[in-house]
Amino acid sequence: MASELDQEVARRRTFAIISHPDAGKTTLTEKLLLYGGAIHLAGSVKARRASRHATSDWMELEKQRGISVTSSVLQFPYRGHAVNLLDTPGHQDFSEDTYRTLAAADAAVMLIDAAKGVEPQTKKLFKVCRMRGIPIFTFVNKLDRFGRAPLELMDELEQVLGLRAYPMNWPIGMGPEFRGVYDRQHKVVHVFSAEGRHGESEVAERSVPLDSDEIHSVLNERELATLKEEIELLDIGGDEFTREKVTSGQLTPMFFGSAMTNFGVRPFLDAFLELAPPPTSRPTKEGPREPTYPKFSGFVFKIQANMDPAHRDRIAFMRVVSGRYVKGMTAFHSRLGKDVRLAKPSQFLAAERTAIEDAWPGDVIGLFDPGMFRIGDTLAEGEDLLFESVPRFSPEYFAIVRSKDPLRRKQMEKGLEQLSEEGTVQIFQQLGMGMKDPIVGVVGALQFEVLQFRVEHEYGARIMLDRLPFSHARWVVGPNFDPKTFDWEGNRQTVQDRDGLPLVLFRDDWALQHAEEKHPELKFLSAAPQL
Ligand code: G4P
Repeated sequence: MASELDQEVARRRTFAIISHPDAGKTTLTEKLLLYGGAIHLAGSVKARRASRHATSDWMELEKQRGISVTSSVLQFPYRGHAVNLLDTPGHQDFSEDTYRTLAAADAAVMLIDAAKGVEPQTKKLFKVCRMRGIPIFTFVNKLDRFGRAPLELMDELEQVLGLRAYPMNWPIGMGPEFRGVYDRQHKVVHVFSAEGRHGESEVAERSVPLDSDEIHSVLNERELATLKEEIELLDIGGDEFTREKVTSGQLTPMFFGSAMTNFGVRPFLDAFLELAPPPTSRPTKEGPREPTYPKFSGFVFKIQANMDPAHRDRIAFMRVVSGRYVKGMTAFHSRLGKDVRLAKPSQFLAAERTAIEDAWPGDVIGLFDPGMFRIGDTLAEGEDLLFESVPRFSPEYFAIVRSKDPLRRKQMEKGLEQLSEEGTVQIFQQLGMGMKDPIVGVVGALQFEVLQFRVEHEYGARIMLDRLPFSHARWVVGPNFDPKTFDWEGNRQTVQDRDGLPLVLFRDDWALQHAEEKHPELKFLSAAPQL
């Protein structure tokens, strides 16, 4: 008989949703929770949305926290599975947080607005998933409105992302005439009831085999003829479905629906949980660590401080990779080279933080962090293990940070350090005499506002940011590299990251290309080299 560990691994699914803002991620998340029985009435996640659109509201970061933190990880049971949905920050801008969350996921759901197709943020996030080679499932949303033709969307995935799609189901109608979906595998039509269109509760549906007489009582002749024609097209011209192609991320199973009305949510969830992989192994220098390895190991992929302003606590989010985590256990912290006690774990279910007793591979736990964790840290029971670290990505916006109040410089530095450990910003040191003010780099420009706001409200230090004209940062490595090679010039500047590694900031593509051509002996890396 399979061990408890084997069983717990087999039933887990850990994934993240990637999308462009407004595609419906909040709505879909809410509906998945609704179907998982984790919330009873959809609408409870909605407060998030309300506070998000207006910047002034958004800047009330405690509200924002209510968003990205309480929902950092949502665990819910569904038909025997334990589902972990890793939430990526929902705001309009982009941050490294999103990238890193993907490092902890075993699969991604790419959510696409049927009218808009593949949008810029989806593209960026897709690239990260590609890099990791994780399976990607596509949910085409908002079918209750008129959008692009399904075949056109399939084509777009291929043209824009180089990704072949296999429609698992096919929509019947669109806009007000969106009636249901046809399940290609089971050859069954699911028609949804138009009652209760607001989707507060599970939608009523009827499942009818396509080649039964009953089908004529649910679809009219025109609907039936169109459906049959389109399916024939897919069957003849489409890709062959294989699990291997899905697992390796080459073929995306595609689903259609409307998160708002719940149409198609259950068929998606059922098929997704069936096809998505259980927790996967993670690479270490000594080879992959399998989830069923009996001893506990995990890595930190996200740190969040001051979640509760009353307590000023700091939480390190750790993904369990192997074995069983038991509350209060001791594990070896490879960067610090010592055993540490993993105290106060918590898990996040919808809006509550619940204390947990144990956790299994694929689960994410929030560890109380007295300041000993960094993103990428590995923890393992009784051994010195190192998972390949979560990459740090090249920022695209830069500014010099100046203190508005010289007497509070220490507080400013503390705040900057904290936010850099959380990964909100990256901090660079200028080289050269008298260049004391740090430079910050961010992946999305909105992070500058977050930085300014949080340093002021959490550390009581007011800062000014002088934007710099750079748009690329490259870690430079190569034999005998001398940082002076790239002494300050109008279009570039050499700096150091917090580990003392040299980087060069470039103004634009041209400046970067010029340096690359002039120094073929050097490598210009867009992610920090592993130490
Ligand atoms: P996001 O987290 O990806 O940014 O998207 P979110 O769920 O907040 O949805 C963005 C907007 O799209 C919301 O409208 C939401 O109601 C709508 N939406 C989500 N799914 C569907 C769908 O399946 N069909 C249709 N027609 N709309 C959908 P809003 O006007 O910004 O907010 P609200 O007034 O509805 O709350």
